[in-house]
Amino acid sequence: MSDKIIIFDTTLRDGEQSPGASLNVTEKVEIARQLEKLNCDVIEAGFPVSSPAQFEAVKRISGEVGIIVAALSRAKEIDIKAAWDAVKNATKKRIHTFSSTSDYHIMGKFGHDRYGKTLEEKRKTVLQMSYDMVQYAKTFCDDVEFSAEDAGRTDLSYLSDVIEAAIEAGATTVNIPDTTGYTMPHEYGYKIAELKKRVKNIDKAIISVHCHNDLGLAVANSIAGVENGARQVECTINGIGERAGNASLEEIVMALNVRKDLFSYYSEINTKEIYNTSKMVSGFTGVIVQPNKAVVGENAFAHESGIHQDGMLKNRETYEIMTPDTVGVSKTKIVLGRHSGRHGLKSRLIELGYNLNEDELNKAYKTFTKLADKKKEVFDDDLRIMMGDEIFSEATYYHLRYMQVNSGTNSIPTATVCIKCNGDELADSATGDGPVDALFNAIDRALSTRYKIESYRVRSVTSGRQALGEVAVRIRTEEKSFTGRGVSTDIIEASGKAYLSAINQLKIHREELESMIDAHEVTEAV
Ligand code: KIV
Ligand code: ZN
Repeated sequence: MSDKIIIFDTTLRDGEQSPGASLNVTEKVEIARQLEKLNCDVIEAGFPVSSPAQFEAVKRISGEVGIIVAALSRAKEIDIKAAWDAVKNATKKRIHTFSSTSDYHIMGKFGHDRYGKTLEEKRKTVLQMSYDMVQYAKTFCDDVEFSAEDAGRTDLSYLSDVIEAAIEAGATTVNIPDTTGYTMPHEYGYKIAELKKRVKNIDKAIISVHCHNDLGLAVANSIAGVENGARQVECTINGIGERAGNASLEEIVMALNVRKDLFSYYSEINTKEIYNTSKMVSGFTGVIVQPNKAVVGENAFAHESGIHQDGMLKNRETYEIMTPDTVGVSKTKIVLGRHSGRHGLKSRLIELGYNLNEDELNKAYKTFTKLADKKKEVFDDDLRIMMGDEIFSEATYYHLRYMQVNSGTNSIPTATVCIKCNGDELADSATGDGPVDALFNAIDRALSTRYKIESYRVRSVTSGRQALGEVAVRIRTEEKSFTGRGVSTDIIEASGKAYLSAINQLKIHREELESMIDAHEVTEAV
């Protein structure tokens, strides 16, 4: 008998917590649609209480897709209510609530005496809170998932009690996260097997696994969990997520698919959409996929050595355990150019997974023709970058209207910029150590700001002399870091766009904080 494994994608929630990743609402909606095309069973769309932008994204996604939309909440009434308000209009919805159950977390987060004086008392408080909050979530929604945060390091007997209480309160899925990526596959598998034995009402819920990759074992641990009774796997595209990331969706799905001989489990993922999804997520988040990444890396299907190439020519199976075609990597490269029309562009974008309305198509076509004028050949990766950088970008404060930069071996680099902001134009000039430094200094002068540049990275999107250059700039402020990206055939211009994009994100963040403080003051006043 073969069992279906529910694929719960958390790219838009845990994945977005990846350092340097940032997605606007439009990009999140587009990724959600692609995840539906990939045939995920559940998508976790965000953590609504954490910011107005998160709330808005979950709400918009709920109106766009037909698969289950989950919203995360701590075990607190205010979080659960926000999660419900954000998902309530979805066709299929889930509230996902979590409590911290390891002693490390309990002592750290519930240190105050009001939660109990001893560890034993604090544990009781957490158990009761988990029970009460699952019950509260059930007053809104039938489908409630409960997670025991840091379950990987939680005492097994206490974990069993918490899980039993959550199921008694109505949880239909119970998730056992290895939050810190600490466990070994045999230990994690044992934990799942023991929960199946010890928790009396375990048959009333689906066991879920959620593994982080700190020791590179997230996929192995997830599979060990499945082999011991879990039937839902939480994962992200390209394995992005906090620190070293989450278990990678494509690796789990392809492991089940390739080793059918070994496993009696299957997922309903449309594997042919894996590559497009990976590219879309990488393009929008700016988190680059390492070349040797399993399944979706640039080199995943490349055979370099003579012996391997010879073997491949004789029989593909000599060195290939899955074909590129299975995951949607096509053998033929489609190239568009100056003479490609709107129709050609539209159908290629649809094939790459992008759904455009009429306005977006007009904007895309305009950008495409400018790009095709500069580059003779426009590749798929150029189009993907163009979508993230221009088409799905949202209105921002500062926009680079023009720039002029002079530099040479015997001259002092000088830059002049003009920045548009709410109908005003702010212009200034500055010198610097190099052209990029001069440009950043000119932007700082025009905006009367100065930020610490934490990192600056430039890479070529495709190959060749006319390749698009993508620049990522991370700025550091007292609160946190913000990463901006810019793309152009001119890397100096891309640098200016990236720096402004980071400043725009900082502005959005500060505005969100202010609106949350205002909302808090109103609530307090009431
Ligand atoms: O890693 C974790 O514990 C989580 C939970 C909130 C599910 O992401
Ligand atoms: Zn996590």
